[in-house]
Amino acid sequence: MFTSRLVRKILQIEFKVINFNHFGTKTSYYENIIAKETEITTNQLVPEIKLHLITQNCRLYHAKADESELHEPFFAFFWAGGIALTRHMLDNPNLVKNKTCLDFGCGSGASSIAAIMCGAKKAVANDIDEVSLIAAKMNAKLNNVEIETDSRNLINHPDSFNYDVIFLGDVFYDEEFAVQILPWIQNLISANKKIIIGDPGRHAFNVCKNLNLKLLQEYKLPENVCTENNGFQYGYVWEMHKSTD
Ligand SMILES: C[S@@+](CC[C@H](N)C(=O)[O-])C[C@H]1O[C@@H](n2cnc3c(N)ncnc32)[C@H](O)[C@@H]1O
Repeated sequence: MFTSRLVRKILQIEFKVINFNHFGTKTSYYENIIAKETEITTNQLVPEIKLHLITQNCRLYHAKADESELHEPFFAFFWAGGIALTRHMLDNPNLVKNKTCLDFGCGSGASSIAAIMCGAKKAVANDIDEVSLIAAKMNAKLNNVEIETDSRNLINHPDSFNYDVIFLGDVFYDEEFAVQILPWIQNLISANKKIIIGDPGRHAFNVCKNLNLKLLQEYKLPENVCTENNGFQYGYVWEMHKSTD
C-alpha cells in the first residue's frame, strides 16, 4: 500500500519535471499555454496595444474552470476599468510623461505598456499572480516596449512610495479588498503621489464612503467589451485626492 503510494508520488513528481523539462522553464511552460489559449487582439477600445487575451473566439472562454491549465487567468481579460484608464492615458500622455509609474494589479500589463508608449521614465507591472507577470512581459514584447515587473504584495509596502503615479485598473472588484487598499491609497496621496483609478461602476467602488474623487473621463465601452465585462457599458477614470475627513 505504502509502496504503491510512494511510486505514484514519484511518478507524479517525475511527470511535473518532464513537463517543465519539455518546455525548459516555468516561464516558457506558461508562455506556451498563454500563446495556445489566447488570441492576439486589439479589439478593446485601445487599438494601439496588442494583447494576448481570452476572447469569445477562444476555447477557454466557453470552458469550465477545471478544463484550464491556467488558474483564475485574470490577466487574460482586459477589464473594463483598466480599458478606460489605459485609453485615458494614451489620450493624455502628459499624465505619465517622464514619470515613474506603478501598475498595481496589472493583469495583462496593458496600462504599463501604455505608460511606456506615452513616454514614462519607468513602468512597473505589479501583480501577486506570477503568471500574470509572464503574460505582461509577453504583451510588452508584442508591443516592442520594455516594462519591469514586481510580484510582491505592495499594499502598505514602503517601496510602493517610490513612484510618481499609481494606476488602479479595476481593482475595486470586492468590498473586502477595497477596505484593505483604501488606507494605503490615502497614505500614497498624502505623500503627493498621483492616484488614477479606472472603474466601470462596480458595487465595491460605489459603496466606498467619503472619497474625494475627480472624474477625468467617461468612456462608452464597445459591445464586445460590454459582453466580456458582465454588461458594464461605461468605463470611468477618476483621480483620487486626499479625503477631507
Ligand atoms: C480585475 S483584475 C484587473 C487587471 C488589470 N488592471 C485590468 O484592468 O485589466 C485585478 C488584478 O489584481 C491582482 N491582485 C489581487 N490582489 C493583488 C495584490 N495584493 N497586489 C497586486 N495585485 C493584486 C489580481 O491578480 C488581478 O490580476
